[in-house]
Amino acid sequence: MEKWQEELKKEKLPRHVAIIMDGNGRWAQKKGLSRNKGHRQGVETLKKVVRTCGEMGISFLTVFAFSTENWDRPRNEVLFLMDLFHRTFKKEARELIANRVRVVFIGYRSGLSRDLQETMNNIEKDTRSCDGIQLNIALNYGGRQEIMEAARALVDRGDRDFSQEEFSGNLFSAPCPDVDLLIRPGGEMRLSNFLLWQSAYAELYFTPVLWPDFSETDLYQAVQDFQKRQRRFGGVGGE
Ligand code: FPP
Repeated sequence: MEKWQEELKKEKLPRHVAIIMDGNGRWAQKKGLSRNKGHRQGVETLKKVVRTCGEMGISFLTVFAFSTENWDRPRNEVLFLMDLFHRTFKKEARELIANRVRVVFIGYRSGLSRDLQETMNNIEKDTRSCDGIQLNIALNYGGRQEIMEAARALVDRGDRDFSQEEFSGNLFSAPCPDVDLLIRPGGEMRLSNFLLWQSAYAELYFTPVLWPDFSETDLYQAVQDFQKRQRRFGGVGGE
């Protein structure tokens, strides 16, 4: 067993980890490869990270695959990413079920191709009764849009006097709990419109490691760092 694994406190694990998978393009460019090769390697990292989070006993993992702003990338890259998502979901479905991973997609499905939507619906249906880690994949997702949509839904229903819990219940991510630990590899230190409401009290962890290089040890380090933080949720702490 690695040193990191021994040092993790099982009773203080984050329940919900969120990751902004960043740095695929730079990883590839540094190696003189096409950006697409970086995205392909990013899929391998995600597979490893899902497995490790499951082994650690984390209940929810949400990853940012494609934002509502990512459509502004060159057309070829967008097409490649959509195709890569589609192929990956089809290819990994059996493995996900075997590992009891429940997959849920968050974001605007209507902007995606019919084929991709169908594959997403099938994988959600086929993993619905899986009782291991829940993997939320944010695809065509934007945090502000999600918040506006929830507000609109409540107001349309004539509900103007709602609680924070009711509001949360109308987000794409419902009924998933708030984010405990948000990890962003790739060196940038911003949220980029990811899970804005759900991360209100999240502990943030930034690392310059590019996503394709993000290892099991990097994940353990992030969780270990989380376990050293004192969470106060606006109070004075003293747990
Ligand atoms: C960021 O790298 C990554 C993305 C735009 C998301 C794509 C993620 C993957 C392919 C990982 C696997 C995901 C799934 C759901 C199978 P970047 O292009 O922004 O990198 P850069 O900042 O170096 O340009």
